[in-house]
Order: sequence, then structure tokens, then C-alpha cells
Amino acid sequence: MKKSLSALLIFAATCAIGQTKKKYNVQYDEIKADVQPTMWGVFFEDINMGADGGIYAELVKNRSFEFYKPLMGWTIKRDKFNEGDILVVNRKDENTANPRYIRVKANNAVNGSLSLTNEGFRGMGVKKDLGYDFSVMYRQKSPGLKLHTELVDSTGKVIGAGELSPSETGDWKKQSISFKSNATVQKAKLNIWFEGSGEIDLDMISLFPQDTWKGRKGGFRSDMVQLLADMKPGFIRFPGGCIVEGHELSTRYQWKKTIGPIEERQLIINRWNTEFAHRPAPDYFQTFGLGFFEYFQLAEDIGAQPLPILNCGMACQFNTAEVAAIDELDPYVQDALDLIEFANDSTDTKWGKVRAEMGHPKPFNLKMMGVGNENWGPQYVERLKIFTKAIKDKYPDFKLVNSSGTDPDGERFDYLNTTLRGMKADIIDEHYYRRPEWFLQNASRYDNYPRNGSKIFAGEYAAQSDKTVSVDNKNTLQCAIAEAAFMTGLERNADVVNMASYAPLFAHIDGWQWTPDLIWVDNLNSYGTPDYYVQKLFSVNKGTQVVAMTGDGKAIAGTDGIFGSAVVDRKSKELIIKMVNSNASAQNAEISLGGKVKLSKNGVVTVLSADNLNQTNSFQAPKAVSPQDKAIKISGGKVSLAMTPNSFNVIKIKML
Ligand code: AHR
Repeated sequence: MKKSLSALLIFAATCAIGQTKKKYNVQYDEIKADVQPTMWGVFFEDINMGADGGIYAELVKNRSFEFYKPLMGWTIKRDKFNEGDILVVNRKDENTANPRYIRVKANNAVNGSLSLTNEGFRGMGVKKDLGYDFSVMYRQKSPGLKLHTELVDSTGKVIGAGELSPSETGDWKKQSISFKSNATVQKAKLNIWFEGSGEIDLDMISLFPQDTWKGRKGGFRSDMVQLLADMKPGFIRFPGGCIVEGHELSTRYQWKKTIGPIEERQLIINRWNTEFAHRPAPDYFQTFGLGFFEYFQLAEDIGAQPLPILNCGMACQFNTAEVAAIDELDPYVQDALDLIEFANDSTDTKWGKVRAEMGHPKPFNLKMMGVGNENWGPQYVERLKIFTKAIKDKYPDFKLVNSSGTDPDGERFDYLNTTLRGMKADIIDEHYYRRPEWFLQNASRYDNYPRNGSKIFAGEYAAQSDKTVSVDNKNTLQCAIAEAAFMTGLERNADVVNMASYAPLFAHIDGWQWTPDLIWVDNLNSYGTPDYYVQKLFSVNKGTQVVAMTGDGKAIAGTDGIFGSAVVDRKSKELIIKMVNSNASAQNAEISLGGKVKLSKNGVVTVLSADNLNQTNSFQAPKAVSPQDKAIKISGGKVSLAMTPNSFNVIKIKML
């Protein structure tokens, strides 16, 4: 009896709190800052099978036999062993970028005598009635072998087939055929069996679906690009992340090796292949089918500014921490200068011409670049100064992003923050992989940052439901709400914070190394996490100017677990108010709206919430946590908002 009475009292008290209206004030003609078009962007890294096996739609793994085990991903089947019927040949002097190929010899081969099977990246996702383009590079001295290509399901049943009769002799040729799949299968395989007699060399054995983004041959998975395009990101940071640095300098990312004809791009091991002993990925390589040209093209497609991050002459400081000798830094600096030429300069220049030859004579309009990813210490500053001088001497208006290391606090951060500000860095990149509580407690981080001088790029952040690099991290509602709360602080300080991106972006359910991640995919499907919807809601509602929003005359930065910020959008003529309730109880807000322009009496509030703080999205319930719209009334210059527990609310009101 006593117990149920106290439960009743707690319930009554909760209701009373819920019924009290907290008062807030938005002065929508009091402009606080401009919102940069770059404000909310995306961070792309080939981690978690984000590129190879992910957005890059190639279905054949190890298509050019360059993995350290040349036949990794391939199985040879034969009715009887014939020595040398399939040989891995290395022609490294003739072709350094793509030295290996296979030589196939057969005599009177029939179905079942000799075949190759490729397992794909954790299988191949194929769709019923969709066309598939198979292509191969070949060279033959004694013609006569026909290639039968078959998609097979997990039982071995053929679900799509084609035939290819290499017709020419002489040097390497490429030949393609297309065929359809008659079934949808998550983990199909590709069989190639040989018929007839002859000897043929094969390389770049490839299979792409025809439903790629914009229908580009050899392109990207359209569902994954669409999720990015829907966010309307202001920028796309690429190619990472630690992948920029490499485990050692020889495996650093070198953009020049990622452009030009696909068969000339030299594959390297992906650093996430070996990074985590608890998540080994021995078949993880970078083929660079998604190379720098494609990154620029992707940025252009989705209306985002490109933000390449280049190696600064330092390998990952968690790994080898190798640095390039100062007197050998020139090639690294030259890569940066040449990249600007590649992206922006006339087609008469060496690198502008390469861009044009790849099909894009128009400039990509590159305005900024990062020098170094998570680098730190005086060794970084020493190298950064050399890069900065060389780039600014040639391109004075070009903006550079500088690293403040791996953490948003501590000795390394303090040293870099002070030093970079002293160097008048254009933009400082800060990273935060922290618990949700950190995000709630740090929503006012930038309220007292210097207003002049270096701008901030919140370049990598994600709330960790467990801890950094734990395999138990989940993309929960709690994490998303904490990020939304923090992001109101970024928005309020848009005069200081010019860019922000969640990290990492993609993860394949069967091939991930790092969690949490913004978007999860399998071989056929993709879904946005609650964090994705937070990012998207900020980005599609970024507005053009921050306006004054207060509670008790102060910034709304977490007192009572409520967070808020407001912008106006001069183009769409809207007032947009973002409010986060991080409490476990409902909260009522009354927001007074002050300003000269008349407001509509009807608005919309978009709410992201769920009953359970641990709720995630999944392939089974991809929209369990997703935005819901409700009508809202504006009356007497006020709007009342009933915020459900743990909710992110975006109010939009037309300015008449
Ligand atoms: O986003 C995953 C990794 O986290 C990035 O590669 C690195 O920059 C950071 O440590």
C-alpha cells in the first residue's frame, strides 16, 4: 500500500513537472551569426567496407589478383588436376600498378572440367530482373576458350548467365557482356567455367549492377548515395580518417595513384585490414575504384563542397608514427599543390588536363583541404608550416584545415590549439568520440571560444554508447539525442563553428571494424540510424542566419536537460527552432516569438523520439526511430511545444 502511494506521488509529481511550461524567447530579427553553407557535412572513409564492398558497386572481390594471397576470394574447381591449368603470373616490370593476372589453359573443357568462383565481398547482393555487366581484360595466344559466366545462389542454383567468346588476339583487350538475374539473393556468387581448348590470360574480372547511381558504368550503389544526397550535405570530407595516414608511410593514401584508368590504379592494403585484432579483415584492400576523381564527382552530384584531407608526411601515430624526413617532404607538398591544379586549374595545365581526360573539363571548384588527419606534436607543426607556406604562396585564398589531434582536451590538444591559433590557422579540426553525457555537458563548449581567428571544424564525432572502439557501441536513441543537444551548441556558435561531420559514415553488417556508424548496409539494403536522422534534420534545416534564442536570458544549453537554438532561412522564408529534451519526462515549452516580420499561424514540428532510450534502427525496423511531422499552432506571438521524453524537435514556421 505504502509502495503504491509513493509510486502515485512520483507519478503526480512527474505530471506536474510535465504540465509546467518552461518559457523561452526567440528574437528572430536579432541576427547572431551567418550559417556557413558548409555547416553540416559528411565524413567518408573506407572503413567498415564503406568503399570496396560498400558504395563502390563492384561485386567481384580481388578482381585483379593483387591481394597478398593472389587467389583470395576465388575458388578453383576442376574435375582432375592438371598442373599449371591456372597460373598466377606476375609481370611487374611491364605493369607495376597491376602486375598480376591469371593464365588459363584447357583442353576440351566442358561444364564441370574447370571453373573459377568468386565469393564477392561477403557474398554478392543481386536483384531479380536487374541487369549485370560482366567485363574482363584478356589476352590470348591460342584462342578457343569460351567463358560461361553464371550467378549462383547459396544452393548453387544458376540465377543468371551469359557467355563470352573472346574474339581478338594480340595485346590486352576488354570485353563485356550483360545478363539478368532472375532472383533476389543476398549472398550470390559468380562462377566462370571454361569451354573448349586454348590458353587465355585474364585480369580485371568485374561484375557491376546496372542500377548504379546516375546509371554510371562501374559506379556507386545508388541507395547509399541517395541516403547522402537526402542529407543535402554542405561538404564531403574524404578519404578519411586514419586511412590518409597509413599504417606506415608506404601505405599512406596517395591521390595520384587513385585516378586514371581503373586497371592502372595500384591497389594497397586497407589499414583497417589489420588495425583491430578483435575485428580482423584479411580481405580488406583499397582498389581505388572510388578514387579522387570519383570523390570530386560525388561531391558535385550531391551539391557538397569537396574537402580532401592529405597526408602531411606522417604515418599513423598509433601505429608506426613514421615521419618523412624534412628534406624529403617535397613530394608530399607537391601532391597538395598538384591536387589544387587537378581540381581547379585550366585544362592546359598538367593536372587540369588529366581531369579533362577523365571526363570533367570544368573545374571542381575546390576551396579547402586538410593537411594531416589526427596528427599531433611539434613534428606535425613543423611539417604543417612547410605545407602552409607552399600552398598559401601559390593560392593565397585557399583554406587549410589543421588537425588538433585525436581528443578535444588534454595536453596534446592544448599544445596544438594554442600553437595553431598562434599560426592563424584557417580552420581547426576537432574530434570527439565520447559518451553521451559528454555531449550533453559540452553543448556550451563554443559559447566562450574566441570569436575572431581560427574557425572550428567538428570533423569527427559520435556519441559512444559504451566506449571508443568498443564492439558493443550501438546507435541508440540516447546517443542521437545527446548529439542533437551538442549540435544546438554548434549551431548557436556558427560564427565560430563553420563545419561539422559525424564519423564514421558507413558500415557493412558483415564487414565492420568500428561502431557506431551513421548508415548501416548489407549487400542489398541500407538504413539510417537515429544519428543519421539527427544529422539530416540539422542539415536540411540549417537556415542562413542564427537568431537569438534564450531561456531566462541565457543560452539554452542543458539547464533542466533542455537544449535549443534557432535560425532563419532567408531563401525559404522560414523560422526554424530546434529543441532537445534529454529528460526522461515530458516537458512543455512556451516559446515567445519576437520580430518585425509577420509569422504564419500554422507551423510544423518534426519530432525524433522513441519510448526506449536504447532503441536503435535495424534492417528489420529501419525506421523505428525516424522523424514524424505534426501540425503546430502559433498564437499571440507564442508557440507551445509539448516535448516527449528524450526527443529532438524541429519547429518550422513560415515568415510571411
Ligand atoms: O572514424 C574512425 C577513425 O576515428 C578515423 O579514421 C580516425 O580519424 C579517428 O580516430
